[in-house]
Amino acid sequence: MSDISPTPPSFRHLLGIEGLSAPDITEILDLSDKYVAQNRQVDKKRSILGGRTQINLFFETSTRTRTSFELAGKRLGADVINMTATASAIKKGETLIDTAATLNAMHPDTLVVRHPHSGAVALLSQKMDCSVINAGDGSHEHPTQALLDALTIRRRLGHLHGLTVAICGDILHSRVARSNIMLLGIMGAHVRAIAPPTLLPGQMDRMGVEVFHNMEEGLADADIVMMLRLQNERMNGAYVPSTREYYHFFGLDRAKLSKAKPEALIMHPGPMNRGVEIDSELADDISRSVIREQVEMGVAVRMAVLDLLSRHATNQPPIGPTDTLAGDGA
Ligand code: CP
Repeated sequence: MSDISPTPPSFRHLLGIEGLSAPDITEILDLSDKYVAQNRQVDKKRSILGGRTQINLFFETSTRTRTSFELAGKRLGADVINMTATASAIKKGETLIDTAATLNAMHPDTLVVRHPHSGAVALLSQKMDCSVINAGDGSHEHPTQALLDALTIRRRLGHLHGLTVAICGDILHSRVARSNIMLLGIMGAHVRAIAPPTLLPGQMDRMGVEVFHNMEEGLADADIVMMLRLQNERMNGAYVPSTREYYHFFGLDRAKLSKAKPEALIMHPGPMNRGVEIDSELADDISRSVIREQVEMGVAVRMAVLDLLSRHATNQPPIGPTDTLAGDGA
């Protein structure tokens, strides 16, 4: 595998996919491939972030993102601190800005933030001297999820350009959908959005997305079927008549999947609601579902992002795993 570019990335923070170029995304995915290989070894640890401090600040629940950012930082040798809103002075009334100023005074090198409000992570980044990574802000963006999804697809199918990706479900409230729509568009994939009208944002056509309200039509000849959960925590009122009716029309089962390409891959960012947006047996069918693979890719992508942002901070040439590891060529 060829070496990566010796230049630090052009971005100091990772607040979204918006603003990244195709070469930026390719650079992150190429480095992630090398970390996938590293993570499959018995010795997974490197010291390239030795002496650095990473704070994970989560104002919303998370299993995959928080754990994988913690693993990623620790595998690269950083000191990692985990903070949740419920166990912080925010419970005593401290504001987001005061919390940021307080953490900034402790000189962290990276702040990883998940927040329920769109734009909160960008606001916080303006108050910090260190790199800030958006681990999901409201229904706005979840950039590392889109990057890990892209890595999963690229390793399976070899490329992103020209693929037809059907994103199905609660697109209105989904930061995963927004980040994926942007990334897939930048990388030359065709994106379809399949949802009832109540779960679609306006002006999807401006994002270059083809809209469908019927699963069978939207899934026709798709290469990738990306399912989303109903984000009840972001809904005010009822957006679907019932989960039973929703599953009947928009839940992925074998009959609907048969409209996609015979080898089409099933993806889901998790957490899944089995029997609501996806048939349980289909979710576990490893001949079609790459849901567990997405989780594995999440650690590698987050290592690559932490590595790249640390180079920006010091303006140093690459100190990634390329000097010690052979890539797996995936
Ligand atoms: N996909 C995702 O963001 O999952 P978590 O909420 O578990 O982090």
